[in-house]
Amino acid sequence: MLRHWDERPHVIAAKGDEDWQWQAELARRPDWREQLIAEVDGRPIGYLEIIDPTREETQYWGCISAGHRAIDIWIGEQDDLNRGYGTRIMQLAIDRAFADPSVHTILIDPLESNTRAHRFYERLGFEYVVRRCFGEDRCFVYRLTRPARA
Ligand SMILES: CC(C)(COP(=O)(O)OP(=O)(O)OC[C@H]1O[C@@H](n2cnc3c(N)ncnc32)[C@H](O)[C@@H]1OP(=O)(O)O)[C@@H](O)C(=O)NCCC(=O)NCCS
Repeated sequence: MLRHWDERPHVIAAKGDEDWQWQAELARRPDWREQLIAEVDGRPIGYLEIIDPTREETQYWGCISAGHRAIDIWIGEQDDLNRGYGTRIMQLAIDRAFADPSVHTILIDPLESNTRAHRFYERLGFEYVVRRCFGEDRCFVYRLTRPARA
């Protein structure tokens, strides 16, 4: 299913055609990563990954202090876009990340070209931080900081 989703044009447009090595990666459980499937009434509709960038093996985010989490998300099928599912998934993911009291900031790195995702994250309260290249990918970095207590 994940490989099938990887071939959908809207998914390729957002994350390229990189091989995520699902067979190997799904069999691993490193403690710096959570891999999650979003379901609607038991039907899988999307994938998300919450990582601790300080401990992630490739050090993709570079030198970064403790207390961050980074999220990747995609809805698998075109028909499931624009139904509010992504918003709900992100709300749950944000709550999940901030449930750890040591986490103060959530990071996202949509491609510069993914203007739809920029709008999506801004609506969720993320703020634009900087334009940054990760390898060949030109991205916008967004962050959401833990809401202050009332
Ligand atoms: C980014 C992504 C996860 C958003 O998920 P989504 O389920 O489409 O998002 P939502 O439906 O919650 O919101 C998106 C749009 O639907 C609209 N919408 C929200 N709830 C809706 C509902 N109940 N009915 C109809 N439309 C709705 C929103 O207004 C928004 O419109 P806009 O794009 O014109 O601003 C999804 O588009 C996706 O998987 N894209 C490809 C991968 C990707 O870009 N991932 C992010 C890379 S960092």
